[in-house]
Amino acid sequence: MTAGEDIPLTVMDHHDPQLLSELVAAIEEVAATGAFTGGAAVEEFEADYAAWCEVPHAVGVSSGTEALVLALRALGVGPGDEVVVPANSFIATAEAVSLVGARPRFADVDAETQLMTAETLQQALTPAVRCVIPVHLFGRTVEMAPIMQLAQTAGLLVLEDASQAHGARYRGRRVGTIGDAGTFSFYPAKNLGAWGDGGAVVTSREDLADRVRLLRSHGESPRYRHRVVGTTGRLDAIQAAVLRVKLSRLDERNQARRLAADRLRDVLLDSDSVIAPAPVAPDGDHVYHQFVIRTPRRDAVRDLLARQGIATGIHYPIPIHRSEAYEALVEGHDAAPRATELAEEILSLPMFPSLTGEQIERIGDALHECSIHIRGSVSTLPG
Ligand SMILES: Cc1ncc(COP(=O)(O)O)c(C=O)c1O
Repeated sequence: MTAGEDIPLTVMDHHDPQLLSELVAAIEEVAATGAFTGGAAVEEFEADYAAWCEVPHAVGVSSGTEALVLALRALGVGPGDEVVVPANSFIATAEAVSLVGARPRFADVDAETQLMTAETLQQALTPAVRCVIPVHLFGRTVEMAPIMQLAQTAGLLVLEDASQAHGARYRGRRVGTIGDAGTFSFYPAKNLGAWGDGGAVVTSREDLADRVRLLRSHGESPRYRHRVVGTTGRLDAIQAAVLRVKLSRLDERNQARRLAADRLRDVLLDSDSVIAPAPVAPDGDHVYHQFVIRTPRRDAVRDLLARQGIATGIHYPIPIHRSEAYEALVEGHDAAPRATELAEEILSLPMFPSLTGEQIERIGDALHECSIHIRGSVSTLPG
């Protein structure tokens, strides 16, 4: 039985009439110029995004996956190279490595933060590793200082995948700006989401920014002079216009997510069947792209929440190294056993800037009911 309207996992822009009309107006402006690939809208967004990230260069590209591919190519990573990626990211982090002809090496993650650490990176190193991709998963910042130190000692390039962590700060710096380069996805459900696909590469290295600009548009500079083999990897002008409007609200919206997360933590305190996300590290930050709890009876809890009209997600049910796409690459023992275990227990609760106190109370009550069920009569639980 639901005691009110269903609570979705996330809320898209069409639920906010004011935002919707501003975005439609921004699209109309682009339509009136007739400049759909490149042009002022893309350049303005790139300038705004670079300033917001506090980094000299932001290059708009067609997706977060393409951002990773183009950044890896600009860094010169390719066949014969290995790249360490965490085993529990979205698969795109590994796919990008494969797409440039390199081989992903899967690092395990910390059981509490669910992120790669310097220690798990160290365990994944081989003589062929040239680059590491720390992923600020769910919006939580990776402990970058020891990773940067290890990368320096081992001579590794560092490419941050900040696709889920727009605006989060580590030791005062926006993520994506700490390593050689950083990448973002603007997939619609992200903290900064377009109305289709989009992505960006940020860097303080001018050589890398220039290279990504060249590669995203057929290696062409100037017109019809093709210097290298590139691709169609540009950010659309319409997406850039949408992103520019939404960027102006992003700090405020990230802060609303943090407040909602604090309140969710409060209502979870009483629950003995679920574990709240680990506290945020003193040097770090969390912009709560996802609010991920852990529970040993995950499927049962998920089912009970669904019956109360509360949507949940699993990010991600199969770690990358155990996926069909990659299992052949990883022979022998499980190189990332903690990631494998976490995949059985994680559950993403509803999380969006407009999550209300009332909705949070309902989620808390529903989880409390789950605890009673789990303690009282395990046999009546589904799953
Ligand atoms: C961590 C991470 N990396 C990469 C990507 C790929 O981004 P896109 O879907 O825009 O290609 C995503 C997005 O889904 C992501 O969450």
